[in-house]
Amino acid sequence: MPYDNQRLVAFVFNISLLLLLSAKTSSSFLLRSTPFEQEIVVPFPRSTSSTTNINMAPPTTNEDWTTVNGKLGHVSSRGAANLALPMAYLAHHFTSIDTGNACHPTDNPQGYITVAVAENKLVTDLLQERLGTGTQTAHAGFMEDSEVYSYGPPSGLPVLKQAVATLLQDRFLGTASDTPEINPNHIAIGAGVMNFLSNLFFALGQSGDAVLIPAPYYAAFDNDVRAYAGCITVPVECQHPELGPTVQELQDAKDQAEAKGLKVRFLLLTNPHNPLGVVYTAEVLTSAISWARTQKMESIVDEIYALSVFGDDSKDNVKFESTLKLYKNDLGHDVHLLWGLSKDFGASGFRIGVLYTQNELLLEALGNLIAFAWVSHPMQRIMANMLSDTQFCDHFLTTSTQRLRASYQACTKVLTELDVPFVQAQAGMFVYLDLNHNDDNRGGIVATAQDEAILSDIFMTRARMVLTPGQTQHDPIPGRFRICYAYVSPEVLAIGMERLAKVMTKIRARTTGPSSEQEQPGLLGGNWIQEDKYWQDIL
Ligand SMILES: Cc1ncc(COP(=O)(O)O)c(C=O)c1O
Repeated sequence: MPYDNQRLVAFVFNISLLLLLSAKTSSSFLLRSTPFEQEIVVPFPRSTSSTTNINMAPPTTNEDWTTVNGKLGHVSSRGAANLALPMAYLAHHFTSIDTGNACHPTDNPQGYITVAVAENKLVTDLLQERLGTGTQTAHAGFMEDSEVYSYGPPSGLPVLKQAVATLLQDRFLGTASDTPEINPNHIAIGAGVMNFLSNLFFALGQSGDAVLIPAPYYAAFDNDVRAYAGCITVPVECQHPELGPTVQELQDAKDQAEAKGLKVRFLLLTNPHNPLGVVYTAEVLTSAISWARTQKMESIVDEIYALSVFGDDSKDNVKFESTLKLYKNDLGHDVHLLWGLSKDFGASGFRIGVLYTQNELLLEALGNLIAFAWVSHPMQRIMANMLSDTQFCDHFLTTSTQRLRASYQACTKVLTELDVPFVQAQAGMFVYLDLNHNDDNRGGIVATAQDEAILSDIFMTRARMVLTPGQTQHDPIPGRFRICYAYVSPEVLAIGMERLAKVMTKIRARTTGPSSEQEQPGLLGGNWIQEDKYWQDIL
C-alpha cells in the first residue's frame, strides 16, 4: 500500500504528539500505588476539562502543579482517569523489580515471588537460542529488505501477514475441502492483543457501550475496554464458570445491564480461558456466538492461549477447537478473532498482536488507527522469519506445552496435598484456586471480599508473594486466586508453593476448629493477623 504524503505528514505529527504526551504522562507513578484499588482524586487548579496541549505554557507558580502519588505535574481529566494502576495488585511486583528484590533460588531465596503475570518465562531460553545466536535475526531484521528502514503499511508487513496466515491455517483452521483458506488480507498486525481490544471497541462501538464478559475474567480487560473506547464491562455471572456461560446467563446479564440503561453491543470470550485455564466446548462457543448474533451484538473471541494447550487427550479433557475451525473460516462481519505472540511464544515484550476479521470496513478503519500502535518493521520481519520456520515452531510449541504441564502439575500437587480446591486446567499458564470453602472440613479461610483483601495482603507482605485476587477478576465469590506458575522458574515456584503452604497452615490454625479465633463476619478479622512474630518463619 503506497503511503501518500498527506498521510505521512499527519502520521509524523501524530507520532510526535504521542511521544510528547507519553513523556508527560509516563507511567512512573506505578511504583507509588498502594496494593489495593484506590480512587485517585486529582484537584486541578487549572481546569478539569482542559485537554493536554503541547503548546501550553508551563505553570507559572507552584500552585499550578498538582502532586499525585508523589509525582508533580498536570494532566487533563482524561489523563487523570488513567492515573491509577489498572491492576493495583501488581504494585508489589513492581516494587520487587525496582528494588532488585526478586526471589532467586540461591542468591535471594527470600525475595519477592510474582505469580500474578500471565507470561511463559519457561521458554525464554528457546527464544534466546533461536533469536540471539547466529546471524539469522540480524539478516531477517535488518538486511533482507531495506524497506524496514521506512514507513510502510501500519497494519502489518505482507511478509508477516503471510507467515501468520500460514500459522492460522496450519494450527487453528486445518485443511478441509469445504473450507476456504485464510486470507492474509484479513489479518492485521498491531502492538499486542490489548491494542486490538482497545481499537475494536473504539472502531465498532460508541463510548458507553457495554461489553459482556463471562466472569471471572482477565483483570486488564476493564482497562482495555475503557481507556480509549470509553466502553463499559459487564461481568456475566456463571453458575459453572469452568464450563462457560449458558445462553440464559448471557441473556440475564444483558437484561440486567439494559435495565440499568446500558446499551449492550459486545460479547468478549476468551478460549482457552484466563484465569481458569479451561477450554470451552464447541457447543458453548457456538451457542454464545449464535445468541450474540440474534441480539445484533459483535463477538470478539480472544484465543491468545490457543497454542498453550497442555492437557492430554483423556476423555475428561475438551479438545481445543478454534472459532476459525468451528465456523469453517466463515466468521461473517461480526465475529473477530484475536491471537498474538505474547503467550504462546512467550514474547509479550515483542508486542505482536494479531486480528483476524472478515469485516473489511473495520480493517480499513484500523489501517489508520493501528498507526498509533505500529509494530517496528525489523521486529515484524524477524517474527515472520521465525514463524515460517516450521521445524523451530514445532519444537518450541511441544517443549513449551511440556514445560507448562510440568509446572502446572508441580503447583497443583501442593494444592492437592493442602486440600485446596482448584479448577482443573488444560491450557494457559495459571491455576485458579479456591480458598473460599469455610463450610466443610476443607478448612476454608475466606468468607468475604474483605477477607480476600486481607489474605492477599498477607501473601504480599508476609510471604512476599504476588497472586491475582479473584475480586480483581470480577469473581462474584470471594477467596479465589490465580497463580501464574510459568512466570517463575520451577525452583522459584517450589519456594513459592512452600510459602503458600506455610501461610495456609498458619491461618487455618487460627480460623478453623474449636479454638478458632475468628471474628465474624470476616474470618480474618483477628488481631493476630497484625502480629509480626506470628509470620516470622514464612520466608
Ligand atoms: C486473555 C488475554 N488477552 C490479552 C492479553 C494481552 O495480550 P498482549 O500482550 O498481546 O497485549 C492477555 C495478557 O495477559 C490475556 O491474558
